[in-house]
Amino acid sequence: MSGRQIRMVNAFHLSGIPRIIFGPGTLKKLPALLKEFGDQYLIITGATSFMSGHSGRILMNSLEGGSNIIYRGRIIKEPSPSDVDDIVKEYSGKEIDAVVGIGGGSVLDAAKAVSAMLRIGGSVREYIEGVGTRKHPGIKIPFIAVPTTAGTGSESTENAVLSEIGTNGFKRSLRHYGLVPDIALVDPELTTGCPPEITSASGMDALTQLIESYISVNANTFTDSLAEEAIRLIITSLPKAVKNGSDLNARKALSYSAMISGITLANAGLGVVHGFASSIGGCIDIPHGVLCGTLLGAANRIILNNLLNTDPVNAAVMKYAKIGMFFTETKNLTEGEYAVRFIELLEKLVEDLDLPRIGNYGLKTEMLENIADMTSQKNNPVKLSKDELLQILKARI
Ligand SMILES: [Fe+2]
Repeated sequence: MSGRQIRMVNAFHLSGIPRIIFGPGTLKKLPALLKEFGDQYLIITGATSFMSGHSGRILMNSLEGGSNIIYRGRIIKEPSPSDVDDIVKEYSGKEIDAVVGIGGGSVLDAAKAVSAMLRIGGSVREYIEGVGTRKHPGIKIPFIAVPTTAGTGSESTENAVLSEIGTNGFKRSLRHYGLVPDIALVDPELTTGCPPEITSASGMDALTQLIESYISVNANTFTDSLAEEAIRLIITSLPKAVKNGSDLNARKALSYSAMISGITLANAGLGVVHGFASSIGGCIDIPHGVLCGTLLGAANRIILNNLLNTDPVNAAVMKYAKIGMFFTETKNLTEGEYAVRFIELLEKLVEDLDLPRIGNYGLKTEMLENIADMTSQKNNPVKLSKDELLQILKARI
């Protein structure tokens, strides 16, 4: 591989980034941060509630000094529009100074959508991309995102993913740059209790987001510089955190990288794996991180094969190669060879983490054609044929 390459700095548009407070123990800062907005808060958590655990009890005790807290622990899976509508209906007449989401990506997305709908009312369905007909104006109640997993990066994105499973199902976003959380409070200690299978699925979602935004046709110097380091951190740290959940250094690396993946996806976009997440996610009930993780190696293998045949000097090949070279001791390989090393690394990660196949969740071979037709390739560096899309799915069904 040739020596140092300096990339051209092209024009780009940078979307909002929240005020970020990162580090072990930073949850302690939440009460003081909330005071900046007022003293009435709506706190949304998951059903397996963080609030009943040790950190939650400490937080509640520290918040209760004169504050009016409405606590809602109900989000158990990826939220639907009616989940959001129900919460908004219940609290729309109340004075709420800030909404806090404490939980995994589903909780953060639900809380983000609630903060976006409390001021405008009506059904969120009307404002979902490709589903409703109205454009959200971007106004919201101040929103603080506190992730307890390291995955979706919702703490730093402008969208909330909402889904409905079924014949006319969908998995689409409520999106506006005004919906970026006011504060992302990222305390990696909160993820140490995350079980191995959730750690691995969430981490693979973040890795998918980083790789897809890194090789995106809309990538730019800003997102690339963030994505490169975060990809390396996840590949190194994810197996460690899955093996030993209390490895705080690994947890810090994952929490940081997941947060960065939100920034890079919001600014450079996503690719075909997230296209599948949308088309498959509307048909069957499968955790988003499992779906992304299980397809990650196969999808990038097909993308690279296509590029090596059609456009071997494509920026995406050079980027695959750059990460591949970082993890390879052998010197003087070609860009193509280092790129293949990177794909092999991804495939090994999928295998080592033992990510379930999509067939385990009810996806049938006869559904694949339809899914391939519905799959957007968004910002993918190459337009894959239907046959190539089917090859990805068949490799992991
Ligand atoms: Fe994702």
